[in-house]
Amino acid sequence: MIRLESVTKRYPDGTIAVNSLDLTAPSGQITVFVGPSGCGKTTSLRMINRMIEPTSGRIWLDDRDAASVKPAELRRGIGYVIQHAGLFPHRTVLDNVATVPLLLGQDKKKARARAQELLERVGLDPAFAKRYPAQLSGGQQQRVGVARALAADPPVMLMDEPFSAVDPVVREQLQNEFLRLQGELGKTIVFVTHDIDEAIKLGDKVAVLRVGGTLAQFASPAELLSQPADAFVAGFVGRDRGYRALGFARSGVLPLSDEQAVALGSSIRAARDVAVDGWALVVDGGRRPQGWLAVDGGDRDAALGDITPDLLNLGGTLAGVGGTLREALDAALSSPSGRGVVVDDDGSFAGTVTAAEVLARIEERSAQTRREAVETAGARYAELQRADSGAPVEVGKHAGGGAHAASAAQSADPAT
Ligand SMILES: Nc1ncnc2c1ncn2[C@@H]1O[C@H](COP(=O)(O)OP(=O)(O)OP(=O)(O)O)[C@@H](O)[C@H]1O
Ligand SMILES: [Mg+2]
Repeated sequence: MIRLESVTKRYPDGTIAVNSLDLTAPSGQITVFVGPSGCGKTTSLRMINRMIEPTSGRIWLDDRDAASVKPAELRRGIGYVIQHAGLFPHRTVLDNVATVPLLLGQDKKKARARAQELLERVGLDPAFAKRYPAQLSGGQQQRVGVARALAADPPVMLMDEPFSAVDPVVREQLQNEFLRLQGELGKTIVFVTHDIDEAIKLGDKVAVLRVGGTLAQFASPAELLSQPADAFVAGFVGRDRGYRALGFARSGVLPLSDEQAVALGSSIRAARDVAVDGWALVVDGGRRPQGWLAVDGGDRDAALGDITPDLLNLGGTLAGVGGTLREALDAALSSPSGRGVVVDDDGSFAGTVTAAEVLARIEERSAQTRREAVETAGARYAELQRADSGAPVEVGKHAGGGAHAASAAQSADPAT
């Protein structure tokens, strides 16, 4: 069990990242922290293994106060997985996984045998063991990251958006394998994501956070869906979950804002001119998005000179103009500026969109789907009535109408 008691983190610049957080992550279960970019998910997670120290409050791991345990000792019992896996580029896959056991003093042969076994366990072909991380796909690298975190067999795992950087199909495979693995291992897991669908799929318990680091609701997925605590949670989980059915709806109809971007290498002053709410999008020569630059609007910006890659916040997934509403929502929720980046087919920047805009479009679409379902069902009913009363039915006119009504009704059904 991991218990957070009135935990607050205020960074030296005054930002309150986490505000009096109270919750208990049960042993042997998956607890998910979910919320938009900047709501304090990573900060909360890192306070558990003391990579970040709380400003106030306490964190308990079973009956141990985390503050009373040396960070190095604490982390020995806590596996940590991050986005992009964070693998050592110059070590083979096998050595990446064996690193921690070796550090803990296990002999080389044993550590490698165990690493090999773990790779298989996370669904990786043993043939990959000799490769270097750059020779693997994003999804394979994430599997190695999970294997590495499991290598010391820690009772606790902290996972920070481990599946966010891969495409939706691979993400789903990773989620399924992760659930299977957890079924065998029964670790105490705290899992961070900005994706409410992922939270609902993986979480035994889900903590919904809002920007400012306050807890909006802590509940089981079923409870979140049936009894959202307030309008924020209701909006976030999707009032009727209608948008699940819209996973395949194209987002081409989204009202893209013609946000201006600034080129890498230009001056921070130029970024300040185009920034909205303190964030400017930076692109390369081909107008491909490179990341977000935070500008504070003060004289300090101007003194900083030109825009270099190390100044950029790389958070946020990209959505394609021909992509789905689901992707657009994902891009908006994961973006540090709150504006999702949409790109053309050639990868060049097309515009931005906010979560509110995507959600409005989704609401519109699901209302439309419901309306269509009702109309189709109505037409079908009238047809049946006519058939019943012996009135002539125009043959062929409604052929397949029943199936159409059923599928339309299904896509409006919150359970699908
Ligand atoms: N070292 C720091 N100094 C000052 N503020 C910080 C620092 N690290 C994070 N913050 C701020 O604290 C808030 C929470 O950040 P955190 O990284 O925990 O958010 P998050 O929910 O993980 O976001 P994301 O989804 O983008 O990863 C943000 O406003 C962020 O800018
Ligand atoms: Mg984070």
